[in-house]
Amino acid sequence: MKKTIIIEYTPRNQRSRTKRILETLKSHISNNEIETIDLAQNLPPLFDNHSLGAYYKRNYGGEILSSQEEESMQKFDYYVEKILQADTIIIAYPMFNFSMPAAVKAFFDGMLQKGKTWDINESGYIGLLNNKRMVLVTSSGGDYSQGTPMESMDLSTPMIKQYASFVGIKYLHIIAAQGLANSEKEEEIIAKTENTAAEIASIISN
Ligand SMILES: Cc1cc2nc3c(=O)[nH]c(=O)nc-3n(C[C@H](O)[C@H](O)[C@H](O)COP(=O)(O)O)c2cc1C
Repeated sequence: MKKTIIIEYTPRNQRSRTKRILETLKSHISNNEIETIDLAQNLPPLFDNHSLGAYYKRNYGGEILSSQEEESMQKFDYYVEKILQADTIIIAYPMFNFSMPAAVKAFFDGMLQKGKTWDINESGYIGLLNNKRMVLVTSSGGDYSQGTPMESMDLSTPMIKQYASFVGIKYLHIIAAQGLANSEKEEEIIAKTENTAAEIASIISN
């Protein structure tokens, strides 16, 4: 059985439109064991003096960590472990201030570990997640789609694209419900996005 890990940050919970699209996507996925890391329920840590020192010591220096240092990296290592086990990684969040919410950025800071999800060799950076698929489920009040005047204000999509390519992911699917601030169009936009979600679910399932 294949594995899907969902990294979810939808703090409006049952009122969240992002969550609604994510639930539709999830309901159409078969043939997968699905696990969720809910970042809104359990916030990721930020690197501090202690944990960043531990990260350099272990991932760059190859040194053994003390139990206290290990502990400071525990949540980040848990994220890495879950990502490495998965065939598909689904990231779901609403746009916050033209970008991904800080909690999601903190998740990536902890998961983008040298020697685990990426590395460096003579020819440069190499991604270590080559065989995985990534899906972004997101929503925003504004419409930043390609060719629109606000396209360049969207810092979220370029970030996700960069992270995916950095870790070697070749298949990135983006499900974005944009322009939801227009309440007359909201339902129509979400319904269209849910159709896309169902199509992507069949790719994940097969
Ligand atoms: C703190 C915060 C910042 C936001 N910043 C933006 C933004 O920069 N651009 C935008 O289009 N929408 C922005 N929004 C609106 C949300 O992205 C939009 O309403 C989204 O659909 C909410 O998703 P949800 O229903 O899953 O919570 C922001 C909302 C919040 C709460």
